[in-house]
Amino acid sequence: MKTILITGGAGFIGSHVVRYFVNKYPNDTIYNLDALTYAGNLENLKDVEKAANYTFLKANICDADTIFSLFKKYRFDKVIHLAAESHVDRSITDPLEFLKTNVLGTVNLLNAAKFTWKNNFSNKLFYHISTDEVYGTLGKTGLFTETTSYNPNSPYSASKASSDHFVRAYGETYGLPYIISNCSNNYGPNQFPEKLIPLFIHNILKNKALPVYGDGNYTRDWLYVLDHAMAIDTVFLHGKISETYNIGGFNEWKNIDLVKLLCKLMDVKLGKVEGASESLITFVKDRPGHDLRYAIDATKISKELGWKPSVTFEEGLFKTIDWYLKNTTWLEHVTSGAYQKYYEKQYKE
Ligand code: NAD
Ligand code: DAU
Repeated sequence: MKTILITGGAGFIGSHVVRYFVNKYPNDTIYNLDALTYAGNLENLKDVEKAANYTFLKANICDADTIFSLFKKYRFDKVIHLAAESHVDRSITDPLEFLKTNVLGTVNLLNAAKFTWKNNFSNKLFYHISTDEVYGTLGKTGLFTETTSYNPNSPYSASKASSDHFVRAYGETYGLPYIISNCSNNYGPNQFPEKLIPLFIHNILKNKALPVYGDGNYTRDWLYVLDHAMAIDTVFLHGKISETYNIGGFNEWKNIDLVKLLCKLMDVKLGKVEGASESLITFVKDRPGHDLRYAIDATKISKELGWKPSVTFEEGLFKTIDWYLKNTTWLEHVTSGAYQKYYEKQYKE
């Protein structure tokens, strides 16, 4: 029996990871630690909240004393660390919040794990979930591999890169057993509608403009969120200590092409005339420091650990759209209040 701490489990990816682990490991105890920021939502986990092997802990990873006392109380064996500020645009307006949660918060967890596990690192693991954005931007060709140099360009990616370095440094300096994985753009159910795909689904439903940054010729590599959760499970079970694994879908899309595909599928689902959603596309001011292209080489995780994505992009996008159409109450709940204020500020002009 293991005691597994998952941080950020009320967020988008975290909630899929928590659900996957709670259902797959009934004999282990899964603790979900989350501060419930604007991005954290316990509605994401309604179906597992009463499971006997699941406990929610409301706590902020920036609060070192609380984190230490929770490690002391529950003696976690394994940590899967997802809690973070995750939205690039927010990091441009408020870099300090990203430094606090992503860097200081991660170091607090590392200290608590090191202190609690001291002298007995056997069967312990600190698994840090990171992003492909730490590698910076690609030109028109090439892929990010595990040995690509770090070259972050936004305050978000700089804070994630810093947290990756701290995790690795704790491994080298103190012998803390760690693994890091760096994943490409996720999409799927429960994603907060500030990221491209859910924001645009939401705006199409509300008949609002679809704000494409710059000329839309930026490329991202998209992975269905459940495939990321399954990759995390694979790495958790079979990954080698002190290693990094890149996770991605070999699925590159230019933003403008993806948006046009999404518009087409939404027209069909909503019974609108062809082209109705596309007419909402509006080119707006570019994101400062906008990375041109991300693309992951996922050969290592595929060859060494046998993971590969289970759904195609078309299947994943269909499932995602269906989910948002069936869960309009969820959408209403998360788009009220604080999010509305952020939206007005971000897209003014
Ligand atoms: P998210 O913003 O949806 O969720 C983040 C969660 O962390 C929320 O539940 C929030 O309440 C919690 N949190 C934030 N600050 C906290 C704090 N100080 N203390 C405790 N909890 C706090 O993020 P996501 O998109 O699910 O991303 C999860 C992780 O995966 C992040 O580390 C992110 O960098 C990484 N990642 C995301 C993507 C992606 O496409 N979304 C891709 C690769 C890696
Ligand atoms: O690559 C992994 C990263 O993917 C994760 O680490 C981040 O947490 C996650 O937010 C995501 O970062 P991006 O910046 O790529 O995602 P976002 O959905 O914000 O933007 C995707 C692309 O769409 C990007 O090129 C910017 C563009 N965009 C985004 C928004 C919100 C627009 O053109 N208009 C928009 O309104």
